[in-house]
Amino acid sequence: MTTLVVGASGATGRLLVEELLARGEQVKIIVRCADNLPDTLKQNDRLMITEFSLLDMTDTELLEQVQGCSAVVSCLGHNLTLKGMFGHPRRLVTDAVQRLCSAIEKTAPAVHVKFILMNTSGNQNTRAGEKVSAAQSFIVGLIRFLLPPHADNELAAEYLQLSFDDNQKLIEWVAVRPDSLIEQESVTEYNAYASPIRSAIFDAGKTSRINVAHFMSELVTNSGTWNKWKRQMPVIYNT
Ligand SMILES: NC(=O)c1ccc[n+]([C@@H]2O[C@H](COP(=O)([O-])OP(=O)(O)OC[C@H]3O[C@@H](n4cnc5c(N)ncnc54)[C@H](OP(=O)(O)O)[C@@H]3O)[C@@H](O)[C@H]2O)c1
Repeated sequence: MTTLVVGASGATGRLLVEELLARGEQVKIIVRCADNLPDTLKQNDRLMITEFSLLDMTDTELLEQVQGCSAVVSCLGHNLTLKGMFGHPRRLVTDAVQRLCSAIEKTAPAVHVKFILMNTSGNQNTRAGEKVSAAQSFIVGLIRFLLPPHADNELAAEYLQLSFDDNQKLIEWVAVRPDSLIEQESVTEYNAYASPIRSAIFDAGKTSRINVAHFMSELVTNSGTWNKWKRQMPVIYNT
């Protein structure tokens, strides 16, 4: 099985690539620059690296990338610089998700392709009936207005929800929502919930990136985990 990972040079993306390779999967990645990837990754024969700026790829190039992949994972995120937060592309994640999904649709896969989006616990899943306090709603509204990356994350998840319901057979998706991301060396116990169990603004929990990578790998490789969470937005917290 081959998985395409975008955002693979990022802090979570590279952990995901390592975990998928450790599970014996074939992995393709599209990165702007491979220089900072560890040699152990670059030397792995089951990893195919394309160095290119994702949104500058033509539709045909994107179609070639997704062709034959059983899963596509986005760990994209805006870089935490002024340009990354407020410059272009403002809709990095949404545009990438939309273009990758349209490329998948054009390949007319015989079996649905899994699409996994790294999202955020700050994104309220209103379609699942999630409610937040008036204070949280106000603060998130301000964040949405002031910080384009938050609106981008919300739009990307909404696109998947609205475009790929259970009436179509080409793409199934999961939007994984970690709480505050932290670094840890190894996988620890974590739990996934259909909706947040604490306030993402006033009482945020912790989620280590390596646990996010582990959960996403489970979604890719374990059909039980996939069937449990498909078309949902699980929130994960370290235990
Ligand atoms: N921070 C938190 O507490 C938190 C909590 C929950 C969810 N999240 C979300 O989790 C996601 C990933 O987080 P992370 O910390 O693992 O991300 P990260 O380390 O910042 O990695 C971001 C990735 O996106 C790529 N990227 C950025 N701008 C790009 C562009 N214009 N074109 C192509 N690729 C581009 C980066 O590539 P380069 O290496 O080439 O720059 C990198 O691979 C983000 O969407 C974030 O909003 C964050």
